[in-house]
Amino acid sequence: MTVLLDPQSVSNRSLLDGIQGNILKSHGRPYTANIFIHCRPNHVDEAKTWLHSLVEGEDALIQSGYAQLRSNLLHKDNPAIDTGLFACIHISAAGYCYLFNDQKVKLFKDPSFRKGMKHKDVIKELNDPTLDEWESGFRKENHFMLLLAYTNEDRLTAIVDQINRAIQSFADVTTISWGNALKNEEGAGIEHFGYVDGISQPLFFLDEWETYKQNNNVKDEAQIKYDPRADKKLVLVQDPFLPNDTSALGSYFVFRKLEQNVKGFKQAEANLAGKLAFKEEDDKERAGAMLVGRFEDGSPIELNPNPGLINSALLNDFTYDSAVNSRCPFHGHIRKTNPRVGPVEEGVQVANNRVMARRGIPFGRRTDGPNDGNIYNKPTGKVGLLFMSYQASIKDQFEFVQTGANSTAQGKDPVIGQGTGDSVGDFAKIWDDPNTLKSASFDEFVHLKGGEYFFAPSMSFLKRIDTL
Ligand code: HEM
Repeated sequence: MTVLLDPQSVSNRSLLDGIQGNILKSHGRPYTANIFIHCRPNHVDEAKTWLHSLVEGEDALIQSGYAQLRSNLLHKDNPAIDTGLFACIHISAAGYCYLFNDQKVKLFKDPSFRKGMKHKDVIKELNDPTLDEWESGFRKENHFMLLLAYTNEDRLTAIVDQINRAIQSFADVTTISWGNALKNEEGAGIEHFGYVDGISQPLFFLDEWETYKQNNNVKDEAQIKYDPRADKKLVLVQDPFLPNDTSALGSYFVFRKLEQNVKGFKQAEANLAGKLAFKEEDDKERAGAMLVGRFEDGSPIELNPNPGLINSALLNDFTYDSAVNSRCPFHGHIRKTNPRVGPVEEGVQVANNRVMARRGIPFGRRTDGPNDGNIYNKPTGKVGLLFMSYQASIKDQFEFVQTGANSTAQGKDPVIGQGTGDSVGDFAKIWDDPNTLKSASFDEFVHLKGGEYFFAPSMSFLKRIDTL
Protein backbone atom coordinates (compact mmCIF):
# COMPACT_ATOMS: atom_id res chain seq x y z
CA MET A 1 0.00 0.00 0.00
CA THR A 2 1.51 3.29 -1.11
CA VAL A 3 1.65 6.06 1.48
CA LEU A 4 1.11 9.45 -0.11
CA LEU A 5 2.68 12.60 1.29
CA ASP A 6 0.46 15.18 2.88
CA PRO A 7 1.96 18.52 1.84
CA GLN A 8 0.26 20.24 4.81
CA SER A 9 1.67 17.87 7.41
CA VAL A 10 4.60 19.17 9.45
CA SER A 11 5.95 15.65 9.65
CA ASN A 12 6.90 15.89 5.95
CA ARG A 13 8.65 19.20 6.37
CA SER A 14 12.20 17.86 6.84
CA LEU A 15 11.84 15.57 3.81
CA LEU A 16 10.64 18.45 1.62
CA ASP A 17 13.22 20.87 3.01
CA GLY A 18 15.95 18.37 2.25
CA ILE A 19 15.27 17.92 -1.47
CA GLN A 20 15.35 20.23 -4.46
CA GLY A 21 12.09 21.19 -6.13
CA ASN A 22 10.75 19.77 -9.42
CA ILE A 23 11.41 16.16 -8.35
CA LEU A 24 8.16 15.29 -6.60
CA LYS A 25 6.11 18.00 -8.32
CA SER A 26 6.69 19.90 -11.54
CA HIS A 27 7.79 23.55 -11.23
CA GLY A 28 4.97 24.33 -13.68
CA ARG A 29 6.46 27.49 -15.22
CA PRO A 30 6.12 27.97 -19.02
CA TYR A 31 9.65 29.16 -19.86
CA THR A 32 12.89 27.42 -18.97
CA ALA A 33 16.57 27.89 -19.61
CA ASN A 34 18.58 24.70 -19.24
CA ILE A 35 22.16 25.89 -18.88
CA PHE A 36 24.94 23.35 -19.48
CA ILE A 37 28.19 24.23 -17.73
CA HIS A 38 31.75 23.00 -18.11
CA CYS A 39 34.27 24.01 -15.42
CA ARG A 40 37.79 24.80 -16.54
CA PRO A 41 40.64 22.78 -14.95
CA ASN A 42 41.97 23.88 -11.54
CA HIS A 43 38.98 25.95 -10.40
CA VAL A 44 37.43 23.40 -8.06
CA ASP A 45 37.17 25.74 -5.06
CA GLU A 46 35.41 28.43 -7.09
CA ALA A 47 33.00 25.86 -8.53
CA LYS A 48 32.17 24.62 -5.01
CA THR A 49 31.73 28.18 -3.73
CA TRP A 50 29.32 28.92 -6.57
CA LEU A 51 27.27 25.75 -5.93
CA HIS A 52 27.09 26.66 -2.26
CA SER A 53 26.00 30.22 -3.10
CA LEU A 54 22.98 28.82 -4.97
CA VAL A 55 21.38 27.74 -1.67
CA GLU A 56 22.80 30.37 0.65
CA GLY A 57 20.63 33.06 2.27
CA GLU A 58 17.04 34.27 2.03
CA ASP A 59 17.33 35.17 -1.66
CA ALA A 60 18.99 31.91 -2.64
CA LEU A 61 18.37 30.98 -6.27
CA ILE A 62 17.60 27.37 -5.38
CA GLN A 63 14.82 26.86 -2.87
CA SER A 64 13.81 23.53 -1.37
CA GLY A 65 11.00 21.22 -2.48
CA TYR A 66 9.00 22.67 0.40
CA ALA A 67 9.42 26.26 -0.82
CA GLN A 68 8.39 25.19 -4.31
CA LEU A 69 5.18 23.57 -3.06
CA ARG A 70 4.39 26.71 -1.13
CA SER A 71 4.85 29.00 -4.12
CA ASN A 72 2.81 26.63 -6.35
CA LEU A 73 -0.04 26.77 -3.84
CA LEU A 74 0.05 30.56 -3.63
CA HIS A 75 -0.14 30.72 -7.39
CA LYS A 76 -3.03 28.26 -7.53
CA ASP A 77 -5.11 30.43 -5.21
CA ASN A 78 -4.24 33.61 -7.06
CA PRO A 79 -2.79 33.22 -10.56
CA ALA A 80 -1.93 36.92 -10.58
CA ILE A 81 0.81 36.27 -8.00
CA ASP A 82 4.22 36.05 -9.63
CA THR A 83 5.64 32.76 -8.36
CA GLY A 84 9.06 34.09 -9.31
CA LEU A 85 12.04 32.21 -10.50
CA PHE A 86 12.42 28.50 -9.97
CA ALA A 87 15.88 26.92 -10.08
CA CYS A 88 17.45 23.52 -9.52
CA ILE A 89 20.93 22.15 -10.15
CA HIS A 90 22.02 18.82 -11.58
CA ILE A 91 25.54 17.38 -11.49
CA SER A 92 26.88 14.77 -13.94
CA ALA A 93 29.31 11.95 -13.07
CA ALA A 94 32.01 14.03 -14.82
CA GLY A 95 30.95 16.93 -12.58
CA TYR A 96 31.38 14.88 -9.39
CA CYS A 97 34.73 13.69 -10.72
CA TYR A 98 35.78 17.29 -11.23
CA LEU A 99 34.57 18.42 -7.78
CA PHE A 100 35.91 15.39 -5.89
CA ASN A 101 37.56 12.41 -7.58
CA ASP A 102 36.87 9.15 -9.44
CA GLN A 103 36.56 7.21 -6.19
CA LYS A 104 33.67 9.39 -4.99
CA VAL A 105 31.76 8.78 -8.24
CA LYS A 106 31.76 5.10 -7.30
CA LEU A 107 29.48 6.01 -4.38
CA PHE A 108 26.66 6.31 -6.90
CA LYS A 109 24.94 2.97 -7.32
CA ASP A 110 23.47 3.59 -10.77
CA PRO A 111 25.90 2.16 -13.37
CA SER A 112 24.38 4.17 -16.22
CA PHE A 113 24.79 7.44 -14.32
CA ARG A 114 28.45 6.65 -13.69
CA LYS A 115 29.01 6.07 -17.41
CA GLY A 116 27.08 9.09 -18.67
CA MET A 117 24.88 9.35 -21.76
CA LYS A 118 27.84 9.85 -24.13
CA HIS A 119 29.44 6.53 -23.17
CA LYS A 120 29.75 4.17 -26.15
CA ASP A 121 28.00 1.35 -24.23
CA VAL A 122 25.02 3.59 -23.47
CA ILE A 123 24.80 4.84 -27.06
CA LYS A 124 24.84 1.22 -28.26
CA GLU A 125 22.33 0.01 -25.68
CA LEU A 126 19.84 2.79 -26.52
CA ASN A 127 20.45 2.81 -30.31
CA ASP A 128 21.28 6.50 -29.90
CA PRO A 129 22.85 8.43 -32.78
CA THR A 130 26.65 8.60 -32.57
CA LEU A 131 28.25 11.71 -31.07
CA ASP A 132 29.03 13.29 -34.43
CA GLU A 133 25.27 13.72 -34.90
CA TRP A 134 24.86 15.53 -31.55
CA GLU A 135 24.90 19.30 -31.22
CA SER A 136 28.39 20.51 -30.35
CA GLY A 137 27.50 21.78 -26.83
CA PHE A 138 26.34 18.32 -25.79
CA ARG A 139 29.48 16.67 -27.14
CA LYS A 140 31.53 18.60 -24.56
CA GLU A 141 32.03 17.37 -21.01
CA ASN A 142 29.16 19.00 -19.15
CA HIS A 143 29.58 19.12 -15.36
CA PHE A 144 26.40 20.89 -14.30
CA MET A 145 22.98 21.67 -15.68
CA LEU A 146 21.25 24.58 -14.03
CA LEU A 147 17.54 24.64 -14.77
CA LEU A 148 15.90 28.05 -14.49
CA ALA A 149 12.15 28.48 -14.97
CA TYR A 150 9.94 31.54 -14.97
CA THR A 151 6.56 32.77 -16.15
CA ASN A 152 8.26 35.90 -17.49
CA GLU A 153 10.53 35.23 -20.46
CA ASP A 154 12.34 38.59 -20.40
CA ARG A 155 13.24 38.27 -16.76
CA LEU A 156 14.43 34.74 -17.38
CA THR A 157 16.78 36.00 -20.09
CA ALA A 158 18.12 38.67 -17.76
CA ILE A 159 18.81 36.08 -15.04
CA VAL A 160 20.63 33.86 -17.53
CA ASP A 161 22.96 36.82 -18.24
CA GLN A 162 23.61 37.18 -14.50
CA ILE A 163 24.49 33.49 -14.25
CA ASN A 164 26.86 33.81 -17.18
CA ARG A 165 28.68 36.61 -15.39
CA ALA A 166 28.73 34.75 -12.06
CA ILE A 167 30.51 31.71 -13.49
CA GLN A 168 32.74 33.22 -16.15
CA SER A 169 35.88 33.20 -14.00
CA PHE A 170 35.86 29.41 -13.64
CA ALA A 171 33.48 27.88 -16.18
CA ASP A 172 32.01 28.07 -19.68
CA VAL A 173 28.43 27.69 -20.77
CA THR A 174 28.59 24.99 -23.44
CA THR A 175 24.97 25.32 -24.54
CA ILE A 176 21.60 26.58 -23.34
CA SER A 177 18.39 24.72 -24.22
CA TRP A 178 15.46 27.11 -24.00
CA GLY A 179 12.08 25.53 -23.29
CA ASN A 180 8.72 27.11 -23.94
CA ALA A 181 5.40 25.46 -23.15
CA LEU A 182 2.93 24.92 -26.01
CA LYS A 183 -0.82 24.93 -25.45
CA ASN A 184 -3.80 23.87 -27.50
CA GLU A 185 -6.96 25.95 -27.87
CA GLU A 186 -8.39 24.47 -24.66
CA GLY A 187 -5.29 25.58 -22.75
CA ALA A 188 -3.88 22.08 -22.23
CA GLY A 189 -0.11 21.58 -22.56
CA ILE A 190 0.83 19.81 -25.80
CA GLU A 191 3.98 18.56 -27.51
CA HIS A 192 4.88 19.51 -31.09
CA PHE A 193 3.04 16.67 -32.85
CA GLY A 194 -0.05 18.34 -31.34
CA TYR A 195 -0.95 15.82 -28.60
CA VAL A 196 -1.76 16.73 -25.01
CA ASP A 197 1.22 15.71 -22.87
CA GLY A 198 1.92 15.27 -19.17
CA ILE A 199 -1.35 13.50 -18.36
CA SER A 200 -0.06 10.26 -16.87
CA GLN A 201 2.35 10.93 -14.04
CA PRO A 202 3.19 9.14 -10.80
CA LEU A 203 1.44 11.00 -7.98
CA PHE A 204 3.27 11.48 -4.66
CA PHE A 205 0.90 13.81 -2.80
CA LEU A 206 -2.50 13.35 -1.21
CA ASP A 207 -3.98 16.49 -2.77
CA GLU A 208 -2.93 15.30 -6.25
CA TRP A 209 -4.69 12.00 -5.62
CA GLU A 210 -7.90 13.78 -4.58
CA THR A 211 -7.81 15.87 -7.78
CA TYR A 212 -7.08 12.76 -9.84
CA LYS A 213 -10.14 11.01 -8.43
CA GLN A 214 -12.34 14.00 -9.26
CA ASN A 215 -10.96 14.36 -12.78
CA ASN A 216 -11.42 10.67 -13.48
CA ASN A 217 -14.78 10.41 -11.81
CA VAL A 218 -13.55 7.80 -9.34
CA LYS A 219 -16.30 7.33 -6.74
CA ASP A 220 -14.99 4.15 -5.19
CA GLU A 221 -11.23 3.70 -4.84
CA ALA A 222 -11.64 -0.08 -4.99
CA GLN A 223 -12.91 0.32 -8.56
CA ILE A 224 -9.95 2.23 -10.00
CA LYS A 225 -8.47 0.70 -13.10
CA TYR A 226 -5.07 2.43 -13.09
CA ASP A 227 -3.45 3.46 -9.84
CA PRO A 228 -0.98 6.34 -10.32
CA ARG A 229 -0.07 6.60 -6.62
CA ALA A 230 3.66 6.26 -6.10
CA ASP A 231 6.00 6.05 -3.16
CA LYS A 232 8.75 8.66 -3.02
CA LYS A 233 11.22 5.76 -3.47
CA LEU A 234 10.26 5.76 -7.16
CA VAL A 235 12.32 8.91 -7.63
CA LEU A 236 14.29 9.63 -4.44
CA VAL A 237 17.47 7.94 -3.24
CA GLN A 238 19.89 8.66 -0.41
CA ASP A 239 22.42 11.34 -1.36
CA PRO A 240 25.55 9.16 -1.36
CA PHE A 241 27.66 11.99 0.10
CA LEU A 242 25.51 12.12 3.23
CA PRO A 243 24.69 8.48 3.95
CA ASN A 244 23.56 9.09 7.53
CA ASP A 245 21.34 12.11 7.00
CA THR A 246 17.80 10.74 6.50
CA SER A 247 16.56 13.97 4.95
CA ALA A 248 19.43 14.21 2.46
CA LEU A 249 17.76 12.71 -0.61
CA GLY A 250 18.46 13.25 -4.28
CA SER A 251 17.30 11.94 -7.62
CA TYR A 252 18.86 10.70 -10.85
CA PHE A 253 17.97 12.96 -13.75
CA VAL A 254 17.85 12.37 -17.51
CA PHE A 255 18.01 15.19 -20.06
CA ARG A 256 17.50 14.51 -23.78
CA LYS A 257 17.03 17.11 -26.49
CA LEU A 258 14.69 15.35 -28.94
CA GLU A 259 14.06 17.08 -32.26
CA GLN A 260 10.68 16.38 -33.88
CA ASN A 261 10.07 16.27 -37.63
CA VAL A 262 6.45 17.36 -37.34
CA LYS A 263 5.74 17.45 -41.07
CA GLY A 264 7.14 13.93 -41.50
CA PHE A 265 5.05 12.59 -38.63
CA LYS A 266 1.84 14.26 -39.82
CA GLN A 267 2.47 12.93 -43.35
CA ALA A 268 3.02 9.42 -41.93
CA GLU A 269 -0.27 9.72 -40.01
CA ALA A 270 -2.03 10.62 -43.28
CA ASN A 271 -0.29 7.80 -45.16
CA LEU A 272 -1.39 5.33 -42.49
CA ALA A 273 -4.98 6.58 -42.73
CA GLY A 274 -4.72 6.05 -46.52
CA LYS A 275 -3.32 2.55 -46.12
CA LEU A 276 -6.18 1.63 -43.79
CA ALA A 277 -8.63 3.24 -46.26
CA PHE A 278 -9.99 5.63 -43.62
CA LYS A 279 -12.45 8.10 -45.15
CA GLU A 280 -14.17 9.88 -42.28
CA GLU A 281 -12.34 12.72 -40.51
CA ASP A 282 -12.63 10.97 -37.12
CA ASP A 283 -11.13 7.81 -38.56
CA LYS A 284 -8.23 9.83 -39.94
CA GLU A 285 -7.59 11.16 -36.44
CA ARG A 286 -7.60 7.58 -35.23
CA ALA A 287 -4.55 6.84 -37.39
CA GLY A 288 -2.50 9.26 -35.27
CA ALA A 289 -4.09 8.05 -32.05
CA MET A 290 -2.96 4.52 -32.91
CA LEU A 291 0.64 5.79 -32.96
CA VAL A 292 0.45 7.70 -29.68
CA GLY A 293 -2.29 5.80 -27.80
CA ARG A 294 -4.27 8.98 -27.25
CA PHE A 295 -6.06 11.39 -29.59
CA GLU A 296 -4.63 14.91 -29.89
CA ASP A 297 -7.06 16.09 -27.18
CA GLY A 298 -5.80 13.37 -24.82
CA SER A 299 -8.75 10.95 -25.12
CA PRO A 300 -7.28 7.43 -24.68
CA ILE A 301 -7.93 5.32 -27.79
CA GLU A 302 -8.28 2.29 -25.53
CA LEU A 303 -11.57 3.78 -24.26
CA ASN A 304 -13.16 5.18 -27.37
CA PRO A 305 -12.80 5.17 -31.18
CA ASN A 306 -13.17 8.95 -31.31
CA PRO A 307 -11.73 11.97 -29.51
CA GLY A 308 -13.81 14.40 -27.48
CA LEU A 309 -14.25 12.53 -24.20
CA ILE A 310 -15.27 14.82 -21.34
CA ASN A 311 -12.13 16.01 -19.49
CA SER A 312 -10.01 14.35 -22.18
CA ALA A 313 -6.80 16.18 -21.26
CA LEU A 314 -6.84 14.64 -17.77
CA LEU A 315 -8.27 11.15 -18.32
CA ASN A 316 -6.04 8.42 -17.05
CA ASP A 317 -8.17 5.81 -15.30
CA PHE A 318 -7.94 2.99 -17.79
CA THR A 319 -5.90 -0.10 -18.39
CA TYR A 320 -5.34 -2.52 -21.26
CA ASP A 321 -6.46 -6.07 -21.84
CA SER A 322 -3.12 -7.75 -22.52
CA ALA A 323 -4.65 -9.94 -25.25
CA VAL A 324 -6.34 -7.10 -27.15
CA ASN A 325 -4.63 -4.74 -29.59
CA SER A 326 -7.58 -3.71 -31.74
CA ARG A 327 -8.29 -0.68 -29.54
CA CYS A 328 -4.84 0.64 -28.57
CA PRO A 329 -2.12 -1.10 -30.63
CA PHE A 330 0.61 -2.83 -28.62
CA HIS A 331 3.15 -0.42 -30.08
CA GLY A 332 1.21 2.80 -29.21
CA HIS A 333 3.66 5.17 -27.45
CA ILE A 334 1.83 5.27 -24.13
CA ARG A 335 1.27 1.50 -24.12
CA LYS A 336 4.85 0.68 -25.06
CA THR A 337 6.25 3.03 -22.39
CA ASN A 338 3.76 1.97 -19.70
CA PRO A 339 1.88 -1.29 -20.42
CA ARG A 340 -0.10 -0.78 -17.17
CA VAL A 341 -1.05 -4.46 -16.82
CA GLY A 342 1.30 -7.15 -15.58
CA PRO A 343 2.49 -8.77 -12.38
CA VAL A 344 1.84 -7.18 -8.99
CA GLU A 345 4.47 -7.23 -6.24
CA GLU A 346 3.82 -5.97 -2.72
CA GLY A 347 0.56 -4.45 -3.85
CA VAL A 348 2.20 -2.41 -6.62
CA GLN A 349 1.99 -3.19 -10.33
CA VAL A 350 5.53 -3.97 -11.47
CA ALA A 351 5.11 -1.81 -14.60
CA ASN A 352 4.53 1.14 -12.24
CA ASN A 353 8.06 0.74 -10.84
CA ARG A 354 9.47 1.58 -14.26
CA VAL A 355 7.78 4.92 -14.79
CA MET A 356 9.52 8.21 -14.14
CA ALA A 357 8.48 11.66 -13.03
CA ARG A 358 8.50 13.27 -16.48
CA ARG A 359 9.33 16.97 -16.46
CA GLY A 360 9.88 17.72 -20.16
CA ILE A 361 9.03 20.94 -21.98
CA PRO A 362 8.81 21.68 -25.71
CA PHE A 363 11.49 23.77 -27.42
CA GLY A 364 11.41 25.87 -30.59
CA ARG A 365 8.97 28.41 -32.01
CA ARG A 366 6.48 27.98 -34.80
CA THR A 367 3.95 30.14 -36.55
CA ASP A 368 1.47 27.45 -37.65
CA GLY A 369 -1.26 26.00 -35.44
CA PRO A 370 -0.12 22.60 -34.11
CA ASN A 371 -3.72 21.30 -34.36
CA ASP A 372 -4.76 23.08 -37.59
CA GLY A 373 -4.97 19.84 -39.60
CA ASN A 374 -2.57 21.08 -42.29
CA ILE A 375 0.57 19.22 -43.20
CA TYR A 376 2.29 21.57 -45.65
CA ASN A 377 2.98 24.29 -43.04
CA LYS A 378 4.50 22.01 -40.39
CA PRO A 379 8.16 22.30 -39.31
CA THR A 380 10.60 19.52 -40.24
CA GLY A 381 13.04 20.38 -37.44
CA LYS A 382 14.31 22.96 -34.90
CA VAL A 383 11.34 22.11 -32.65
CA GLY A 384 10.93 19.24 -30.25
CA LEU A 385 10.90 18.10 -26.67
CA LEU A 386 13.46 18.71 -23.95
CA PHE A 387 12.74 15.36 -22.35
CA MET A 388 13.56 15.40 -18.65
CA SER A 389 12.84 12.81 -16.01
CA TYR A 390 13.64 12.06 -12.38
CA GLN A 391 13.98 8.48 -11.22
CA ALA A 392 15.62 6.31 -8.57
CA SER A 393 17.49 4.37 -11.25
CA ILE A 394 18.33 5.48 -14.77
CA LYS A 395 19.10 1.90 -15.71
CA ASP A 396 15.86 0.37 -14.38
CA GLN A 397 13.53 3.19 -15.34
CA PHE A 398 14.51 5.50 -18.19
CA GLU A 399 16.79 3.01 -20.00
CA PHE A 400 14.37 0.13 -19.44
CA VAL A 401 11.56 2.17 -20.98
CA GLN A 402 13.64 3.50 -23.89
CA THR A 403 15.01 0.06 -24.81
CA GLY A 404 11.46 -1.35 -24.55
CA ALA A 405 10.30 1.37 -26.93
CA ASN A 406 13.10 0.40 -29.35
CA SER A 407 12.15 -3.25 -29.25
CA THR A 408 10.52 -4.49 -32.43
CA ALA A 409 8.52 -7.15 -30.56
CA GLN A 410 4.88 -6.23 -31.33
CA GLY A 411 6.15 -3.15 -33.22
CA LYS A 412 8.60 -0.40 -32.34
CA ASP A 413 7.26 2.69 -30.54
CA PRO A 414 6.43 5.03 -33.49
CA VAL A 415 7.17 8.13 -31.39
CA ILE A 416 10.48 7.40 -29.67
CA GLY A 417 11.60 3.96 -30.93
CA GLN A 418 15.15 4.03 -32.31
CA GLY A 419 17.16 1.52 -34.32
CA THR A 420 17.34 -0.08 -37.69
CA GLY A 421 15.16 -3.15 -37.01
CA ASP A 422 11.84 -3.87 -38.64
CA SER A 423 9.24 -1.34 -37.51
CA VAL A 424 6.01 -3.04 -38.49
CA GLY A 425 3.00 -2.95 -36.18
CA ASP A 426 -0.63 -4.05 -36.32
CA PHE A 427 -3.43 -1.49 -36.69
CA ALA A 428 -7.18 -2.21 -36.55
CA LYS A 429 -9.17 -0.85 -39.52
CA ILE A 430 -12.27 -1.02 -37.34
CA TRP A 431 -11.84 -0.07 -33.69
CA ASP A 432 -12.13 -3.10 -31.35
CA ASP A 433 -12.44 -5.55 -34.22
CA PRO A 434 -9.47 -7.97 -34.17
CA ASN A 435 -10.51 -9.38 -37.54
CA THR A 436 -9.58 -6.13 -39.22
CA LEU A 437 -5.94 -5.94 -38.07
CA LYS A 438 -3.56 -4.91 -40.82
CA SER A 439 0.18 -4.43 -40.52
CA ALA A 440 1.89 -1.25 -41.57
CA SER A 441 5.34 0.21 -41.05
CA PHE A 442 6.40 3.62 -39.87
CA ASP A 443 9.56 5.69 -39.87
CA GLU A 444 11.39 7.64 -37.12
CA PHE A 445 10.49 11.31 -36.70
CA VAL A 446 12.17 12.03 -33.35
CA HIS A 447 15.95 12.46 -33.28
CA LEU A 448 18.28 12.85 -30.33
CA LYS A 449 20.42 15.99 -30.55
CA GLY A 450 22.25 15.38 -27.27
CA GLY A 451 21.81 15.13 -23.53
CA GLU A 452 23.35 13.82 -20.33
CA TYR A 453 22.67 11.87 -17.15
CA PHE A 454 22.80 13.85 -13.92
CA PHE A 455 22.09 13.63 -10.21
CA ALA A 456 19.97 16.29 -8.45
CA PRO A 457 21.80 16.46 -5.09
CA SER A 458 20.15 17.07 -1.74
CA MET A 459 19.90 20.57 -0.29
CA SER A 460 22.29 19.50 2.53
CA PHE A 461 24.92 18.46 -0.01
CA LEU A 462 24.80 21.92 -1.58
CA LYS A 463 24.86 23.65 1.82
CA ARG A 464 27.77 21.59 3.10
CA ILE A 465 29.74 21.09 -0.11
CA ASP A 466 32.87 22.82 1.16
CA THR A 467 33.11 20.36 4.06
CA LEU A 468 32.60 17.17 2.04
C1 HEM B 1 9.60 13.87 -28.70
C2 HEM B 1 9.47 12.84 -27.89
C3 HEM B 1 8.20 12.48 -27.18
C4 HEM B 1 6.91 12.80 -27.47
C5 HEM B 1 6.40 13.61 -28.64
C6 HEM B 1 6.08 12.20 -26.46
C7 HEM B 1 4.70 12.31 -26.40
C8 HEM B 1 3.92 11.78 -25.40
C9 HEM B 1 2.50 11.97 -25.29
C10 HEM B 1 1.65 12.80 -26.24
C11 HEM B 1 2.09 11.28 -24.20
C12 HEM B 1 0.64 11.19 -23.68
C13 HEM B 1 0.39 12.07 -22.52
C14 HEM B 1 0.48 11.39 -21.19
O1 HEM B 1 -0.06 10.30 -21.01
O2 HEM B 1 1.12 11.94 -20.30
C15 HEM B 1 3.24 10.65 -23.61
C16 HEM B 1 3.23 9.84 -22.49
C17 HEM B 1 4.34 9.16 -22.02
N1 HEM B 1 5.62 9.21 -22.53
FE1 HEM B 1 6.23 10.29 -24.09
N2 HEM B 1 6.89 11.50 -25.60
C18 HEM B 1 8.17 11.64 -25.99
C19 HEM B 1 9.30 11.12 -25.38
C20 HEM B 1 9.28 10.18 -24.39
C21 HEM B 1 10.43 9.49 -23.88
C22 HEM B 1 11.88 9.71 -24.34
C23 HEM B 1 9.99 8.64 -22.90
C24 HEM B 1 10.78 7.68 -22.06
C25 HEM B 1 11.80 6.98 -22.49
C26 HEM B 1 8.56 8.81 -22.81
C27 HEM B 1 7.74 8.15 -21.92
C28 HEM B 1 6.41 8.39 -21.75
C29 HEM B 1 5.62 7.79 -20.70
C30 HEM B 1 6.10 6.85 -19.61
C31 HEM B 1 4.32 8.29 -20.87
C32 HEM B 1 3.09 7.97 -20.01
C33 HEM B 1 2.50 6.64 -20.41
C34 HEM B 1 1.36 6.26 -19.51
O3 HEM B 1 1.56 6.20 -18.29
O4 HEM B 1 0.28 6.02 -20.02
N3 HEM B 1 8.16 9.75 -23.73
N4 HEM B 1 4.35 10.97 -24.38
